Amino acid sequence: MKAIVYKKFGDSDVLQLVEQPIPTLKADQVLVRVKAFSINPMDWKIRKGEMTLMSGSAFPKHTGTDFSGTVEATGSSVNGLKKGDKVFGVVKNMMKEGASAEYVAVTSSLVWKKPENISYPQAASIPVVGTAAVTALEKMGDITSQKILIIGASGGFGMFLLQLLKQRGAKVTAVTSSQGAEYAKKWGAHSVIDYTKTNVLSNNALYDTVIDLSGKIGYDKAKQIMKAKALYLNPTPKPIEIPMSLLKNLLRSKKHRVILSNPSTKYTDVLLGAVKNGLLIEVNKVFQFDQFREAYQYAEHGGYSGKVVIQMT
Ligand SMILES: NC(=O)c1ccc[n+]([C@@H]2O[C@H](COP(=O)([O-])OP(=O)(O)OC[C@H]3O[C@@H](n4cnc5c(N)ncnc54)[C@H](OP(=O)(O)O)[C@@H]3O)[C@@H](O)[C@H]2O)c1
Repeated sequence: MKAIVYKKFGDSDVLQLVEQPIPTLKADQVLVRVKAFSINPMDWKIRKGEMTLMSGSAFPKHTGTDFSGTVEATGSSVNGLKKGDKVFGVVKNMMKEGASAEYVAVTSSLVWKKPENISYPQAASIPVVGTAAVTALEKMGDITSQKILIIGASGGFGMFLLQLLKQRGAKVTAVTSSQGAEYAKKWGAHSVIDYTKTNVLSNNALYDTVIDLSGKIGYDKAKQIMKAKALYLNPTPKPIEIPMSLLKNLLRSKKHRVILSNPSTKYTDVLLGAVKNGLLIEVNKVFQFDQFREAYQYAEHGGYSGKVVIQMT
């Protein structure tokens, strides 16, 4: 089968298409013929060598976490899935078994049936950012009377988070570029701040929860726009921040909490419920498999809303 790998850190030109054997199936696994996989910022952060503490420096590395496709075969202990089922899911370790391949063998607990009313590219867009959005929602606690600020709201994560908050009646301000404003409003933002025109830090508003999906602000700056007792959610923590934020929170009223997306059936059920209730999955652009370098360049460059997906040809 064909798979995308890289043998050194770098830009998208280090990505190569290679031939490798179709993975062999363990008893608890499902072999999926991939139809689409989505691109996440984590793909290029690891590929560029920005997360070596987590990724290590061994090569070759695979890439791609969430996928959709059809079941090709099931292991002997798998129940509830059969050949031909339309599914979506996540691989456990993208560097070893990336979703950017013609086939993936995945533990059956990380594969779910695809609803008929969403496409393969939409389904492949759900798990990583969708789970992160539900996790953020859990950390926010009671959102009824909160003023919430989402910085970088028009990407994949923001798309899910805004709509989950809207379905629960929350009041959200979104920070986006000019092109992203239209999407943030459509997804449920009450007001939008265009970061190319207004600095959110000098806008004289205070929030109960601030989440920075752009990675451009950070806790220390965000403190100035947080109420006395407020929450900052960090989806891009440095490893040291995970234990440190717990310790420091003991002494501060403006809390800092990290978000780590860990897809599971519990989160997928919430997300599929939200899709049933009208959550839109906006796929900005679908590239064909042989356009993979172009696809990663496009996704990494930014300036679009929603998700970017690669489809098998
Ligand atoms: N911890 C976890 O488990 C987890 C899971 C998923 C994602 N993440 C992280 O969460 C972040 C968001 O993920 P994503 O998939 O939504 O990424 P994304 O699709 O790239 O979205 C990021 C958004 O930030 C916007 N942006 C760029 N510069 C900005 C600025 N100065 N001010 C405000 N907005 C700005 C971009 O809009 P324009 O391009 O229009 O400027 C883009 O829409 C990424 O860092 C990702 O790695 C973490």
